Amino acid sequence: MSLRQRLFQTKSIESLQQEAAGESGLRRSLSRLNLISLGIGAIIGAGIFVLTGQAAAQYAGPAIAISFVISGLGCLFAGLCYAEFAAMIPISGSAYTYSYATLGEFFAWIIGWDLILEYLFVAPTVAVGWSGHFVAFIREFGLVLPEHWIHAPFDYVNGRLISTGHVMDVPAVCIVLLLTCLLVIGIKESATFNNFMVVTKVSVLLAIIGFGAWYLFRHPSLAVQNWTPFIPENTGTYGQYGWSGIFKGAAVIFFAYIGFDAVSTAAQEAKNPQKDMPVGIVGSLLVCTVLFISISVVLTGMAKYTDLNNSAPVVNALQAAGAPFALRFVVEIAAIAGLSSVILVMLMGQPRIFFSMANDGLLPAVFAKVHPRFKTPYVTTLLTGAISAVLAGVMPLAILGEMVSIGTLFAFVIVCISIWVLRRTRPDAPRPFRTPLVPLVPILGAGICFVQMYALPGDTWLRLVIWMAIGIAIYFGYSRHHSKLGRSAK
Ligand code: ALA
Repeated sequence: MSLRQRLFQTKSIESLQQEAAGESGLRRSLSRLNLISLGIGAIIGAGIFVLTGQAAAQYAGPAIAISFVISGLGCLFAGLCYAEFAAMIPISGSAYTYSYATLGEFFAWIIGWDLILEYLFVAPTVAVGWSGHFVAFIREFGLVLPEHWIHAPFDYVNGRLISTGHVMDVPAVCIVLLLTCLLVIGIKESATFNNFMVVTKVSVLLAIIGFGAWYLFRHPSLAVQNWTPFIPENTGTYGQYGWSGIFKGAAVIFFAYIGFDAVSTAAQEAKNPQKDMPVGIVGSLLVCTVLFISISVVLTGMAKYTDLNNSAPVVNALQAAGAPFALRFVVEIAAIAGLSSVILVMLMGQPRIFFSMANDGLLPAVFAKVHPRFKTPYVTTLLTGAISAVLAGVMPLAILGEMVSIGTLFAFVIVCISIWVLRRTRPDAPRPFRTPLVPLVPILGAGICFVQMYALPGDTWLRLVIWMAIGIAIYFGYSRHHSKLGRSAK
């Protein structure tokens, strides 16, 4: 077999379906509701609680609601493509496995490597946010933690790594390690914890929307004043208001939508993946899209968008509207709950992708080990937790935030393209769920995601290229020689 043939060799849909139906060692215990909840758990987090206000202030103004519609549409189209794949090939490798079935091993590896940017980097990024909220929350009760132990020792300023003089962000490390332990103990236990967090954060978001609507209804002239002009005039610089600002805003708040795809990594633990995967993915996305657009409308109505450029824009907007202290207080609790479940679901997704890659021989076999009692991929869970904890404790995470978005968008583009490819190469394959309007939906999904990638800064692209180059070196150095598919083809 030539090198070209080897690189583009695909796994057959039939063998993957057999693998999905067979014994993986993982426990099938997740219901449809658990899956929707996992999706919502992963989606609602730092994005809505912090980035929305900042992106409105800096890029889009009140039209941040339009940014949410644009980004939400891109995610919905990509989500529909994920739903088709996840129902057809319910394997925990998610986009990695889908690419293996359509574009071949090399692309699969590229996507598997790329997904690390999403799952492994979101967890520490959000853990640092969690630490900030937690420290502020306990300070309300007079508990003040020493500064040296709540910040990372490095910061990234103007393209340079500088020392901050601090030791470590201990709360961030602790939350990652605690959630890692929970994930090792069991998927069912993790899902139950996630359900509690989701109920808390969704109830609070609904309370904010309810309060905001009531307030704006009673102060219509203030609302009109804050919403006018709805699309502030562009300042002459790309991305500062106007339509370019709306697109820049969409690229930034895309982070808020990240997570619905994590549902697909639980495919081998779902009771009925063929039916429930599409509902989990698309359902969680729709719920969050409606919540996000509503929140962005009330937020920019209650406070002038220029006042939202701070680390707690939701709390500040509520304060500006004279919300009762209790509501602001529960927003803090919701943010802590919200961020915990994002970290949890992301720490759940990464080990399962590693698990699939190890099952295919592209990573060492030890990564495919399942705990005999807990039935979880404990080796990769512990590894993911350890790396995330170190990153959360010491790394300046400003570097990672945009890497997460570009990596995820890239995976979405590939999944959209793959759906189209597979409809042409395997039109006959049984599809429990079909993405509507193919190729229109995949083309629009890939297009919108690509435009958002394009709107991200140039150095983020450069880092993506470097990251991929490292991945390609590992593929040629190790994975290609250990691939089970490659060996069977010899
Ligand atoms: N969507 C997740 C968040 O906003 C990653 O925190």
